[in-house]
Amino acid sequence: VQTTYLLNGQPLVSSQSGANHFGDGLFETIAIRQGRPCLWQYHLDRLHQGCLRLGFPVIEVAQLTAEVQQLCHSRPRAVLKIILSTGDTQRGYQRAAGIAPNRFVQCHPWPDSPLYQTPSPSVSLQLCQTRLGCQPLLAGIKHLNRLEQILARKEIQPPAVEGVMLNQQGQVVEGTMSNVLLWRAGTYLTPPIVDCGIAGVVRQFVLDQAVQQNQTVHQEVVSLAMLRQADALFILNSLLGVRQVVAVGEHVYPSVAMPTFLQRIHQACFIPN
Ligand SMILES: Cc1ncc(COP(=O)(O)O)c(C=O)c1O
Repeated sequence: VQTTYLLNGQPLVSSQSGANHFGDGLFETIAIRQGRPCLWQYHLDRLHQGCLRLGFPVIEVAQLTAEVQQLCHSRPRAVLKIILSTGDTQRGYQRAAGIAPNRFVQCHPWPDSPLYQTPSPSVSLQLCQTRLGCQPLLAGIKHLNRLEQILARKEIQPPAVEGVMLNQQGQVVEGTMSNVLLWRAGTYLTPPIVDCGIAGVVRQFVLDQAVQQNQTVHQEVVSLAMLRQADALFILNSLLGVRQVVAVGEHVYPSVAMPTFLQRIHQACFIPN
């Protein structure tokens, strides 16, 4: 299955030609099932937040939805990527006045890696030495500057498939490509996304569902000791759903079944819009 692209609604042969030099943009990575995006409203909401934060014009939802439908309608299982980027600029860091961001919509094959198949293999994590810098203005949004994640990803060695990232104070923030959720003494904990990290759509979905289903999820500072003392640990990501972690480095978690609440969330992550 080939990858297809639209740039501002027009088919594109070479990819990324308009991506700019400074990472001035936003992206979303979205699971496609039966030709339609999953957790679509959550992805739109985060994109909208990102546009407000970076000073981009508000996205035209009907246009974007039509483009997604055009690219993905025949794909039972695929990965949709949306990139909003200011494109090439000849004026250094100053954005050219009145230029609307380029809108890339790409549809990729679903990854072959066993991690992305069902049933999922057990997931091992590793603690990354690369730490996240503090920048509240950019925390939460999925902007195109991901160099910290790239450095952290280089550290990860099998059997680990994902890394835990700390902030400069040594507190747990997230994974290199996921958010973390701890289960301890009957409640869930997830680190607040305030100074760094991405506010993942699955994380937000868990927070919203918890309110509806009478579950407690605290957004609370998580130390490494707390991570290790958890009864269970999960990672959250749009393409992975909810995955249970068997170990972080040498620390192995007790083997407990995934709570029904999270099993349902996992399934709901792959219901097409
Ligand atoms: C750094 C980082 N944090 C968290 C996430 C999880 O975000 P989402 O649930 O929106 O996929 C991702 C996803 O790629 C990520 O790259």
